[in-house]
Amino acid sequence: MEATEILQEIAGQVSACEKCNLHYSRKHAVPGEGPVNARLLFIGEGPGFNENEMGRPFVGQAGKFLDELLDFAGFKREEVFITNVVKCRPPENRDPLPDELNACAAYLDKQIETINPDVIVTLGRFSMAKFLPNVRISDVHGKPAWVNERLIVPMYHPAAALHQPSLKNSVIADFKALPNAITEGQNKKLFMLEQQKQEEDKSAADSAEQLSLF
Ligand code: URA
Ligand code: SF4
Repeated sequence: MEATEILQEIAGQVSACEKCNLHYSRKHAVPGEGPVNARLLFIGEGPGFNENEMGRPFVGQAGKFLDELLDFAGFKREEVFITNVVKCRPPENRDPLPDELNACAAYLDKQIETINPDVIVTLGRFSMAKFLPNVRISDVHGKPAWVNERLIVPMYHPAAALHQPSLKNSVIADFKALPNAITEGQNKKLFMLEQQKQEEDKSAADSAEQLSLF
């Protein structure tokens, strides 16, 4: 199946999904949207009021702020894929529960596999915890990390940052630095690969030398 069709199939499954209790109160599930060949994937927490009304991610206040942040980073919304860890709105915008996160994870995993982005930017604690379970966002925000062969950049959630001036400045600075963070992360990987290769070459040379002693 073509990647586009797979994403459509996932969206169809999400819209009809009854795998967790969030389906009872949703108006529209929000599978996520963006080009199938997006190199950047943004993962938020879950739909809020406006997203539940419209079936689209980040269309309320937080979404407007995300658009500004993308602009700071030099990306257009149309060129990135945007989704959430849970696809249906938690009542009163409460935090998603562990069993809801677990029930919904397969959809996100399949989206990641299908889009195969170069970089995943996590927005907030819940999407960060999927990749970086034992860190604090205040320690790692804006810093690139390699997880399972993919570059992850954790960011504060735009909705949280919108109402807290110190976080707002932080998240703006982190988005402005996002292109650099991506380059830095990619260079670190190249450096690691180069070092690994040198070590392999060296041990191959060492064992060749050992053999020649016999
Ligand atoms: N907040 C999120 O985490 N996701 C959305 O889609 C909207 C607001
Ligand atoms: Fe299904 Fe996810 Fe919606 Fe729960 S949140 S009903 S698992 S799509």
